Amino acid sequence: MSIVILGIESSCDDTSAAVIRDGVLLSNVIASQEVHAEFGGVVPELASRAHQQNIVPVVDTALKRAGISKSDLTAIGFTRGPGLLGSLLVGTSFAKGMSLGLRIPIVDVNHLHGHVLSHFIRRTEEDAVPEYPFICLLVSGGNSQIILVRNYNDMEIRGQTIDDAAGEAFDKCAKVMGLPYPGGPHIDRLAAEGDANRFKFAKPHIPGLDYSFSGLKTSFLYTLRDELKNNPEFIEQNKADLAASLQKTIIDILMQKLDKAVKQTGVKTVAIGGGVSANSGVRDAVADYCARNGLTAFIPPRVFTTDNAAMVAIAAYYKYLDKDFCRYDAVPYARVQV
Ligand code: KG4
Repeated sequence: MSIVILGIESSCDDTSAAVIRDGVLLSNVIASQEVHAEFGGVVPELASRAHQQNIVPVVDTALKRAGISKSDLTAIGFTRGPGLLGSLLVGTSFAKGMSLGLRIPIVDVNHLHGHVLSHFIRRTEEDAVPEYPFICLLVSGGNSQIILVRNYNDMEIRGQTIDDAAGEAFDKCAKVMGLPYPGGPHIDRLAAEGDANRFKFAKPHIPGLDYSFSGLKTSFLYTLRDELKNNPEFIEQNKADLAASLQKTIIDILMQKLDKAVKQTGVKTVAIGGGVSANSGVRDAVADYCARNGLTAFIPPRVFTTDNAAMVAIAAYYKYLDKDFCRYDAVPYARVQV
């Protein structure tokens, strides 16, 4: 009999539901919340309210697009954390209620596992998936981690940021340039037309596989402050070159540690995940690096880089196969490691 999983994701500001049958994606619906744009960042209280408004229609649409009814579901997977607690509570409570109504199990998913396992979402039965072990560079607004993935439930963080995440570096520098939130996609767009070697920004010198992005942020800020003293139009006149140089610096920092991790572990496969893995420069750099070094690269389709329920459904699918279900007294957690 087929295993049909409904995945629910509500950890931050996207309400998403997806259906996966025997590991193959049938639908993935994402409702993004526009309400935060005018505040320059996600407002937790508004996010949980928007999840309340969105969750029923989003789940309903995911089931319809998958061409199934509620009674076809085998289990419900939901993001238990990390994330905003008020947002997580909406998805968690909804999953519990629906599972009780349908008398099917619930499976809790670590959001970060979901990002890593997004490479196992198959849209057809022929789609290739990574072979274990592999390295996943997980780069988002909240995380920058190098993870050694030995199995779906065996992941080891080999390095992580000691201060800002890569996405924060993109967003904070973009904010200084006067770009809207989140700034990462705007930097990406501008960088395509700029000279990446025009400006030099500080790179960290920290041992091991850990990252640091706060020095780069300060160096970017000071460059702009100094230049603006002489030329108030400096940002406007140089925005493409600034974006390209910033993006190149972030990529250099990411790639240096990734290379070190590959050499340390001897893996033959490299994957990327998280919102920043949507960045064109990051995707090209990882693909080139893997091609030069005889490694297999897994670059996710852009829709699976940012928050989505398909990754929750696939993570829940593997846990379901192990009969690793969740109890009804489980509560969401705001913070958790891989
Ligand atoms: O994974 P995600 O949706 O949210 C979490 O942090 O969980 O990642 C959001 C981050 C933001 O910092 C955003 O600016 C960044 O991903 N991002 C990008 C791009 N698209 C999204 N950064 C650089 N280039 C992009 N194209």
